[in-house]
Amino acid sequence: MSDYADAYAQFSWSAANERIDWQAGGKLNMAHEAVDRHVAAGYGDQRALRWISKSGEQRDFTYLELQKQTNRFANVLRNQGFERGSRIFSLLGRRPELIIAALGSLKAGCIFCPLFSAFGPEPIKARMEIGEADALLTTAPLYRRRVQGIRDELPTLQKVFMVGDSDTSAGHASFDALMAQAPEAFDVEPMAPEDRALLHFTSGTTGKPKGVVHVHEAIVAHQASGEMALDLKPGDVYWCTADPGWVTGMSYGILAPLANRATLIVDEAEFDARRWYDILQEQAVNVWYTAPTAIRMLMKAGTDAIAKRDFPDLRFMASVGEPLNPQAVIWSHSVFGQPFHDTWWQTETGGIMIANYACMDVKPGSMGKPLPGIEAGIVETDGAVVRELREPLAMGELALRPGWPSMMRGYLHEDARYGACFRDCWYLSGDLAMRDADGYFWFVGRNDDLIKSSGHLIGPFEVESALMEHPAVAEAAVIGVPEETAGELVKAFVALKPGHIASEELLLEIKGHARRHLGPAVAPKEIVFRNNLPKTRSGKIMRRLLKARELGLPEGDLSTLESDET
Ligand code: WT7
Repeated sequence: MSDYADAYAQFSWSAANERIDWQAGGKLNMAHEAVDRHVAAGYGDQRALRWISKSGEQRDFTYLELQKQTNRFANVLRNQGFERGSRIFSLLGRRPELIIAALGSLKAGCIFCPLFSAFGPEPIKARMEIGEADALLTTAPLYRRRVQGIRDELPTLQKVFMVGDSDTSAGHASFDALMAQAPEAFDVEPMAPEDRALLHFTSGTTGKPKGVVHVHEAIVAHQASGEMALDLKPGDVYWCTADPGWVTGMSYGILAPLANRATLIVDEAEFDARRWYDILQEQAVNVWYTAPTAIRMLMKAGTDAIAKRDFPDLRFMASVGEPLNPQAVIWSHSVFGQPFHDTWWQTETGGIMIANYACMDVKPGSMGKPLPGIEAGIVETDGAVVRELREPLAMGELALRPGWPSMMRGYLHEDARYGACFRDCWYLSGDLAMRDADGYFWFVGRNDDLIKSSGHLIGPFEVESALMEHPAVAEAAVIGVPEETAGELVKAFVALKPGHIASEELLLEIKGHARRHLGPAVAPKEIVFRNNLPKTRSGKIMRRLLKARELGLPEGDLSTLESDET
């Protein structure tokens, strides 16, 4: 894309559709677009993936090898009785088997659902129940810690594939052994554009997590947005630091870059400033997609970590998931000689919707402009009516005109919740934003109680429910409190049942309980006791009031307040 306005004016999804290697009868398959078509076009020897293990060992896969491995897994699924539409879940760290399983499942026409490996048993159980998981891929240690205790509560689960472990004593299948026996050839399932492909869970303010359904046709948007927003070109070395347990790690960690015939760098290890700078330099990364929390950690690590380094290959850097501070963009100019390009989207949108493009000036602090093919607006809702606010810098809800290929096709089993996202031919994002006179969008905040911590969306309800399961807890309210690096931290207010006395010991016990049930990614970092929590007359806890008090902000309308904290 050399000129944004031209590209925006000329783009059409039907033209983007023509880039797909369509099969007979208007069929396609995401995994064919990501892998097999490149092999067929003569790029089988190109590296598709370089995996760096925690200890620094490297393993490479060419497109041809990736094709064979994903075919093998598709055969494994078939041999084990899984069909089109079967739900294959993973609970794995960043390792090649996760990518192979995802693409192999898609080849077999199964629906793939990655779970974040730092989830505890409660979030895992809720997601596997809602998603009616038929199979799970995991490792023996993750299984022992996170799944064993809930195994009996998952009636739909037929098979557990153990990765990197040949112990099949508990009736589990050995991924490695089955892969070794499976044939390398597989006829990829031709799928209709609207056939389900991926399931990603996202949190709600109330109720259970939402299973967001994406279809095979989404790959059209992944390919196009990878090219337009991330500047991906065939042969690029590309590093997306997101975990495939979340939508970014799937859409832009696997699908978009492979559809654009890039080479993925996948690092198994957790964040480490020196390691990250090493990877950027030694792997000669061309395009880098990361997140504000990580960027802030790099800024904090200071200049020592970056001393004597040079990144001549780095061409484009982008960020997603939370507000990217203007200081981070200014810092990146001084360290990398180029800005981070902020991008905005959601689990629901399946792909990038608003971005700063390589051909466009970055306004530090702005999310950029709508992707060609996407119409975005700032709106005000009044019942069923949606009014677009066109005056520059008017604040309202960020809304999109539905109709792009990677848009969700539903929340599993929750038609009403899905329907509530749309009004008057708009999709309402739940984010508050503004648009300036030049057409750049600026993030203001969320319109709801969801918490963004280290880029992960956390639903307060899920955390509150786990806290309430502790025998001493009568009520719990959970909010996000601002924190410099992670953006927000999860904080819980807890009222005890009669007969329980607040103590440091009990606090630690409840904290431990939350961590065991929710896992480190979701559990509250801070818990405080209250005698009572502020509630409305209908008994709903007023998280907003707790948050306002916590932050010293105006308390707003208190007319519905029934009982208050003491
Ligand atoms: C929410 C969606 C983006 C895919 C991964 C996260 C927030 C996202 C930005 C940004 C400020 C952002 C929004 C959005 N968000 N990108 N560039 N600036 N906020 O997907 O977990 O569904 O979260 O993340 O609040 O609604 P998600």
